Amino acid sequence: MPENEKHLLIVEDEAALREATAERLADHGYAVTQAENGEQALAKLSEFAFDVLITDLRLPGADGTQVLEAAIERYPKIIGIVVTGYGTVKGAVEAIKIGAADYIQKPIHFDGLLFRLKAALEQQRLKSENVYLRSQLEERYRFEGLVGHSQVMRELFQLLEIVSPTNSTVLITGETGTGKELVARAIHHNSPRRTHRFAALNCSAIPETMLEAELFGHVRGAFTGAVESRPGRLEQAHKGTLFLDEVTTMSSALQAKLLRVLQERELERIGGTRQVKIDVRIVAATNSDLAQHVAEGTFRKDLFYRLNVIPISLPALRDRREDIPFLAQHFLERFSRNLHPPRAPVELSQEATRQLMAYDWPGNVRQLENLVERMLTFSQGRSQIKVADLPPEVRTATNPVVNMQVKFPDDGIDFRRYVHDVEREIIRQALQKSGGNKRQAADLLLLKRTTLIEKIKRLQA
Ligand SMILES: Nc1ncnc2c1ncn2[C@@H]1O[C@H](COP(=O)(O)OP(=O)(O)OP(=O)(O)O)[C@@H](O)[C@H]1O
Ligand SMILES: [Mg+2]
Repeated sequence: MPENEKHLLIVEDEAALREATAERLADHGYAVTQAENGEQALAKLSEFAFDVLITDLRLPGADGTQVLEAAIERYPKIIGIVVTGYGTVKGAVEAIKIGAADYIQKPIHFDGLLFRLKAALEQQRLKSENVYLRSQLEERYRFEGLVGHSQVMRELFQLLEIVSPTNSTVLITGETGTGKELVARAIHHNSPRRTHRFAALNCSAIPETMLEAELFGHVRGAFTGAVESRPGRLEQAHKGTLFLDEVTTMSSALQAKLLRVLQERELERIGGTRQVKIDVRIVAATNSDLAQHVAEGTFRKDLFYRLNVIPISLPALRDRREDIPFLAQHFLERFSRNLHPPRAPVELSQEATRQLMAYDWPGNVRQLENLVERMLTFSQGRSQIKVADLPPEVRTATNPVVNMQVKFPDDGIDFRRYVHDVEREIIRQALQKSGGNKRQAADLLLLKRTTLIEKIKRLQA
């Protein structure tokens, strides 16, 4: 039996019609089984996983909708095609609602049936291919979306590899645009929870009064406007991950309620009486210093400890300038690909790259991403982006080190002190780049390791 042969179950009480249709379908390469009433059909369905069910809606015994329902319940991927009596579509509408792929009307025109059947099979094939492609995309997602070559970013990737597969609560901190949400998604996609939902809730984007309902859900009539019962994000993220963004904006009452849910792992919808068990991993984020909020009494200490099980702090872009060229390149390639028509990637001139690295990026990666998109739009087919294409604030940014050397104050300068400061700053940056490794820092400074150690000693004296 060829592996891709499709198995059809045809249910029809008019014997002549059923047999003729079955025969012709078999001629077209389908493996056809026949049933003459609802009971027979149900019995056959319980024994064999058919690919397609073609059923008359009006049958003796169980009717066609029941057969269809039972088939879909058992084999969610089965293709159901229902046959309705001449001039009636009423039953067909219901069948489609239940999950039938298509319907045809009597009298059956065989070519029409064959065409619908092929179309439905093709659609199913595409659907499963999509599922496959999506799973491949997820595979590639890994940490690929996260660009970073600097020491801090490499350490971050290592940390993510260890932390992602666990159930531990994570607290991500970092300035705006440093990639907190991207990291939260990466954690989810690299955890066993990836096949379930990643639900996100930005606590600062929703008024306090609605935030509670958003988180916990509500039952019908819980408050004005609650016309029907609704699950909250916590429930939606069951078995998955809930990304709680900007947690500091939560009121203390809500913080207490959230804490209770995290402790008990169950919740009650607003206005409800039933306890709902939930299994959710929480990844929280904030761009302010949560410990500071605790110290100031605006954030509950106990909730802070609950959330801060694994702290992940994302460095500002200005503190990892070496990532800038890679990020810029990454965004250039991505945006070029998405242009219509797609373009060969544009490159950045050396001087433009230097300027990007000199700028301070208050909006961090997001700001760089937006800038790259804008530059690409205005580059109008040129293959290189030059300094002149950069916005003024970036074009005129000065590298902090160079800056120290060229700006001579009008009222003179303390030479020794100035050189001392410059030396210290350069060494500090070299050590930061090397992650504290003195040999690597010395290499970056074209110094011998011993010379660097000596200098560090002298500067500290
Ligand atoms: N390491 C990175 N590699 C590639 N893209 C990144 C990286 N970090 C951030 N981005 C991109 O920068 C943009 C901002 O990232 P994200 O939304 O995750 O930041 P955020 O920290 O949540 O910002 P905010 O605090 O403003 O919400 C996104 O488009 C994201 O894809
Ligand atoms: Mg964010």
